[in-house]
Amino acid sequence: MERNHLPIGVFDSGVGGLTVAREIFRNLPNEKIIYYGDTARVPYGNKSADTIKRYSRQITRFLLSKNVKAIVIACNTASALALDAVREMTDIPVIGVVEPGARAAVSATSSGRIGIIGTSATITSGLYDRYIHEMMPSAQVFGKACPLFVHLVEEGMLDDSVTVEMIHRYLDDLIKTDNIDTLILGCTHYPLLRSVIAREIGGVFSGYAKELPDADSAGAADGSAASGAAAAEGAADGIAAAEGAGKITLVNPAYTTAMELSRVLKDYGLASETPVSFSDHQFYVSDGPDNFRAFASEILELTIDDVSLMLTDQL
Ligand code: DGL
Repeated sequence: MERNHLPIGVFDSGVGGLTVAREIFRNLPNEKIIYYGDTARVPYGNKSADTIKRYSRQITRFLLSKNVKAIVIACNTASALALDAVREMTDIPVIGVVEPGARAAVSATSSGRIGIIGTSATITSGLYDRYIHEMMPSAQVFGKACPLFVHLVEEGMLDDSVTVEMIHRYLDDLIKTDNIDTLILGCTHYPLLRSVIAREIGGVFSGYAKELPDADSAGAADGSAASGAAAAEGAADGIAAAEGAGKITLVNPAYTTAMELSRVLKDYGLASETPVSFSDHQFYVSDGPDNFRAFASEILELTIDDVSLMLTDQL
């Protein structure tokens, strides 16, 4: 098979990486993916760097055995802790979500005061800060771990009084004390809370991102391809400039990662020019294929018919 027609490996600690996969489906309709969700070992966000690297290497071995042409680490935690470990294993392009997210935040901020929310491991790694400071040395970066958000999303509590309470507990200091103008949603699950977060903290986000289903919207999505209008709307940068004083721009790294993937595939001469259908994608999990299918369908409105079980000791 020509290299251009090989699949892209995408992995995450579980279901959350589907928010990244979805941006790939929408924006790169000629690319097929092989997705691995490590549902047996999620969450990664409270684990040590060594463990996250070990898990990421195992999954990478599996994806490489499937002859993928590129790998997307669709997990902020694994991107923050294991990007180099994965890159050391292969010559194919490997993209994480952190660097594209940092770049989008730098282009969005006016004041240079940028907040990042993510898992404890992502925030402790300091990788978002490092990329931001490389691109914008004068930036002031404020990180906040918001571990409960993952569980609230997985419970489907997207707009719930408990979620609203946690948004204020986690974010009020970033807004009122640190005075950020830009907030990176630095965890795969957080884009699903963006409407509630935006409402509670006075945030704005791109019209493109708003099309994804979340607490406010029930946008239909078959996961197949970007509509022309949506792609054009998102084409600017995946973020929206704040429309008024005091608004916080919410950055979704999933979108900018898909854009980065598109650029890298072109640079390496690996981009496919043949449209794929949704059934060309393959999905593997390390536990609970039915739960994965249900989350994809109920929370993300993605209909995934086939999900295969691939136990971690078989990786
Ligand atoms: N996928 C993880 C991330 O983006 C969130 C879930 C976890 O802790 O594993 O950081």
